[in-house]
Amino acid sequence: MSVPIVRTVAELRTVVAGWRRSGASIAVVPTMGALHEGHLSLVRAALERAERVVVTLFVNPKQFNNAADLAAYPRTENEDAAKLVPLGAHLLYVPDAEEMYSADFATTVSVSAISEGLCGAFRPGHFDGVATVVAKLLLQTSADFAFFGEKDFQQLQLVRRMVQDLDIPITIVPYPTVREADGLALSSRNLRLSPAERTIAPKLASVLLDTAERLARGSPVLPTLDEARAAILAAGYREVEYLELRGETDLQSMASLDRPARLLVAAWLGDTRLIDNVATSPIGNWPDSQRSVEVEGAKQLRR
Ligand code: PAF
Repeated sequence: MSVPIVRTVAELRTVVAGWRRSGASIAVVPTMGALHEGHLSLVRAALERAERVVVTLFVNPKQFNNAADLAAYPRTENEDAAKLVPLGAHLLYVPDAEEMYSADFATTVSVSAISEGLCGAFRPGHFDGVATVVAKLLLQTSADFAFFGEKDFQQLQLVRRMVQDLDIPITIVPYPTVREADGLALSSRNLRLSPAERTIAPKLASVLLDTAERLARGSPVLPTLDEARAAILAAGYREVEYLELRGETDLQSMASLDRPARLLVAAWLGDTRLIDNVATSPIGNWPDSQRSVEVEGAKQLRR
């Protein structure tokens, strides 16, 4: 058994048109390959939501601001295709760079405000590259639903904004971050960690959860974030690129926790840059049932 693969927009459109004629709903899961359990969870969720699921695999050169990073990005098409078979994904779309960007390609999709700061401040051009390729993938597949992980939270909110602004007829479905048992958010970058770094890595998630809980209970934002940065460095991280509290939907900076928010972090462990985020909101806003669940979740990860 194998998953059918198409490599051109024309082939993709032919398959999708057939599905449409039979009245099937369609979901897309955009990826750059090197599939791990986080991606597979997105595919499973997509299969529950739609009758046909396309997984896209394209290492998008426009979102890399560093040529060495692009060259080093894992390319594991055969292994990725094999992982999709037991799930029952219906199609793998694997365009190459020439198919995606013609020699005279001249359009950039740029989403202001939401792409500024956080990862946008440290990866110039990255979000223009993401917005441009995601717009193309959504239009090429003309899917009804597109699934994105909350792990890349700024990317998720940027895609939502873009789809709304450009009237792209698709529902963006977020999926919670998938974590290892010790709390580390799944990422293809985790494979780059040495055994010693791997033992330190989950501290990022535990500091985030602890900080989210303290903020929810009323700790003042700025000193609490300073303490969190110090705790990440004390755990063995080399540098905290950013640790910020931002509005959940608009990603505006927040100096006090007065509405639902996200705590977002990027930090370097040796030569590996890891990102993570958790939700937080004033504890008065939590339903009773959720209070104990959130606090218990934080305790489990601290163990
Ligand atoms: O999150 C990713 O893997 C990529 O940024 C995406 C959404 C597939 C666009 O290239």
